[in-house]
Parts: sequence; structure tokens; C-alpha cells
Amino acid sequence: MEQFLTIQQMDEAAAYIRERISVQPQVAIILGSGLGGLAEMVEEATVIPFHEIPYWVTSSIEGHKNRLVIGLLEGTPVLVMQGRIHYYEGHRMDEVTFPVRVMQRLGIQTLVVTNAAGAIDPAYQPGDVMLITDHLSLIGMTGNNPLRGPNVAELGERFPDMSQAYDREYAEIARQVARKEGIQLHEGIYICLSGPSFETPADLRFLRLIGANAVGMSTVPEVIVAHHGGTRVLGFSGVSNKANLDGSTITTHEEVLQAGELIVPKLITLIRGFLRAL
Ligand code: HPA
Repeated sequence: MEQFLTIQQMDEAAAYIRERISVQPQVAIILGSGLGGLAEMVEEATVIPFHEIPYWVTSSIEGHKNRLVIGLLEGTPVLVMQGRIHYYEGHRMDEVTFPVRVMQRLGIQTLVVTNAAGAIDPAYQPGDVMLITDHLSLIGMTGNNPLRGPNVAELGERFPDMSQAYDREYAEIARQVARKEGIQLHEGIYICLSGPSFETPADLRFLRLIGANAVGMSTVPEVIVAHHGGTRVLGFSGVSNKANLDGSTITTHEEVLQAGELIVPKLITLIRGFLRAL
């Protein structure tokens, strides 16, 4: 049998964080590629590098600062992951989702996930933001579900329902904030592939056929683990590039990072508004 991180290890990591902070974080926020700027808004911040936390792996990818920023945003105690861990880096799924387990052991009940994504929907432009209303876990369907392995009943059920992985009340709050702030907010389905190669035009036509609006290489494992453990989720994709369904242009990591500059101010407004409304 393969090895999986244990609840004792989750608690060890949670204890390490708890000893260094004076507030009880209520909301966790995971920042995707090129979106780390949002962490600069956190007040009275305590910064903990990922590599200091027991069993917590570090991302090797440019655009990820690999640290936790814990403090106040709109007066709400938040724990911000400035950077995330990806499956394509070679980490196991339980390592990729370990931070979400630690958040749960810390008592956090709300998770805001963000990512950079390619637009499959022809109506989306780079710099746009999409509210994630559901996901396609292609990565899970092909055997890499993060819940694979022994189920720890204290964390959640063996066969958890995923019909409302993205909290409907939170989505409604996000819509209201977007309306009030004049931010165009698309709504759609995010599909997670393992990466790290970008998709071929044939891949993308397939993804469009099966109903995906945006594509990326993250988020879904974290959301499955969050929902398994009863954490309520709000998700946003920042559109970094138009997915190239006809093969006429190429996609680069640089453009993904650049689009972040357009997306970050919108995400800051949306997340601040969400925190105020909570
Ligand atoms: N494909 C997959 N992942 C991505 C993309 C993309 O086009 N853009 C940002 N992340």
C-alpha cells in the first residue's frame, strides 16, 4: 500500500502555524499563478515560508512565492497561500492538498480559491474573471482523485457528494459584489488537467465539447478535499490567455503571469467585497 500523509502530520503542521499567530484565521485564500499580489493587502501580517512548515512542500514554479501570509483583510482574519503546489511538479495528490487539510485542522471553514486559466469559451478575454460554478475533474476521472487512499472518517466521508462543491450562497455574494463594483464576472466550468504541457488544439476542442469554459492545472484537487472536509468554497479563474482551438497562436507562462496584472485588482475588489459581506 502507498503511503499517505496522516491526520497526525496535518495536526503537527497546524500546531506549527498556530504557535506563530495571534488571530484565528476564518477564511483561507489560495492565490494562483501571477495572482500573488493580493497578499500584499493583508494587514498585521505574519509570514511563514512553506518550507518551515512540517510536511508542507514548496512549489518550484515562477510566480509562486511559497509563503503563508496570515493577518487581516477587511477586518477578517485570513490565511493567504501566496503560491500553491501543483501535481505536475511531481508531488503526490495528498501533498498537493495537504495545505487544505491543515486549514481544516486550524478550524477554517471558508476557502477562496483562485487560479490562472486558459479561456475555452470564445466570449472570454485575457484579464477577465470567471466565477467557478462547477468543475470537471478530468484529472480525478483518470485516477488521480485526491481522496484516493484510506479514508479518515474524522476528515470526511468515504464517498462524498460533490453536487455543490462550489457554495451557492458564496457565489451569489460574488455576483452581487461584481454588480455593485462594475466588474464583469463570467460564470463557468473549470477543467483541471495535470499539465505541465499546454493543450493541443485537438485537446481544446475536446474540452469545449465536454462543456469546459476555462482550463488549468490546479484548484480541483484542493476543492475536492475542501468539500470533503466540509469547507465552503468560492472559486475564481483569472483568464490569462485565450486557449488556442485552431492552433494559430502559442501559449506561454509569461503571458499567464502578465495577465495577472489585469486580474489582481479585480480579484482584490471581489474578495474584499466578499469578506465584507460574510
Ligand atoms: N491551459 C492550461 N493551463 C493554463 C492555461 C492554459 O491555456 N493558462 C493558464 N493556465
